[in-house]
Amino acid sequence: MPRYAYVNGRYLPHAQAAVHIEDRGYQFADGVYEVVPVAAGRAVDKDPHLDRLERSLAALHIPMPMTRKALELVSRELLRRNGVSNGLLYMQVTRGVAPRDHVFPTNTRPALVMTTKRIDFAGQSKFDDGVGVITVPDQRWARRDIKTVNLLPNCLAKQAAVEAGAYEAFQVDGDGYVTEGTSSNAWIVTGGGTLVTRQLSHEILHGVTRRTILAIATEEDVPFEERPFTVAEALAAKEAFVTSATSFVTPVVRIDGKAVGDGRPGPLSKRLLAWYRDYAAGLRDSA
Ligand code: PDD
Repeated sequence: MPRYAYVNGRYLPHAQAAVHIEDRGYQFADGVYEVVPVAAGRAVDKDPHLDRLERSLAALHIPMPMTRKALELVSRELLRRNGVSNGLLYMQVTRGVAPRDHVFPTNTRPALVMTTKRIDFAGQSKFDDGVGVITVPDQRWARRDIKTVNLLPNCLAKQAAVEAGAYEAFQVDGDGYVTEGTSSNAWIVTGGGTLVTRQLSHEILHGVTRRTILAIATEEDVPFEERPFTVAEALAAKEAFVTSATSFVTPVVRIDGKAVGDGRPGPLSKRLLAWYRDYAAGLRDSA
């Protein structure tokens, strides 16, 4: 089956899909994106993802490229054409194409690209075995709540993680507190069984999976606190995990080479993953 990408109004074969060299996303990282999990043929948490897309665009003074309804139609059509029932939907909006100049162009239409990817989430060993993370200084700018395509510090940190044999990097602020992963939110479970994840602010991305996990925790009477935690607290924690559209709930079993808990995925992480999978598959309605 050919794979299509949606590029500025057209469905193009993936291999031929391209944007102009003067697209401001390419020149200045002047754009934003969303990664939406697709499970059982549906975009999971579509509304909060579109809400965040709107917020990211508004923060950069980029207009929506089309109405939300139209975005939904295009994404459904692309998933249909590509036969994706489990995987990811990627949406990227940039300020558009204009001669290179730092100042915003006038009368430029935002550029919209959508792609999809098939993924067999069920077959991924990270969920059963857990993963290692390293810790790195957080080198990003002050508006990490905007989901911009400017991901260089994240890429550098993720590459350092992979070169160290790890899956993800916990980024650490100047006071020694973990902000988040490079493409995920960071969590621990205290000795008393309380979930801890950093509170929402400009310092982290407001993860949609994070939001859903907190909703599930509320429903399941799992206590949680939204506050910063240090690397030392994470190392002493009973469990740790990361959440994202691609990681769901991925247990973290090593931090900087040292075991978290007994070095195996913890029971609460496993339960949250199972609940999240049910939610993603449409088997739990609320979150
Ligand atoms: N990343 N923090 C950062 C820095 C992220 O890039 C992401 C997601 C998250 C988790 O957000 P969500 O739960 O909405 O996926 C947190 C996506 C998956 C990516 O860049 O590929």
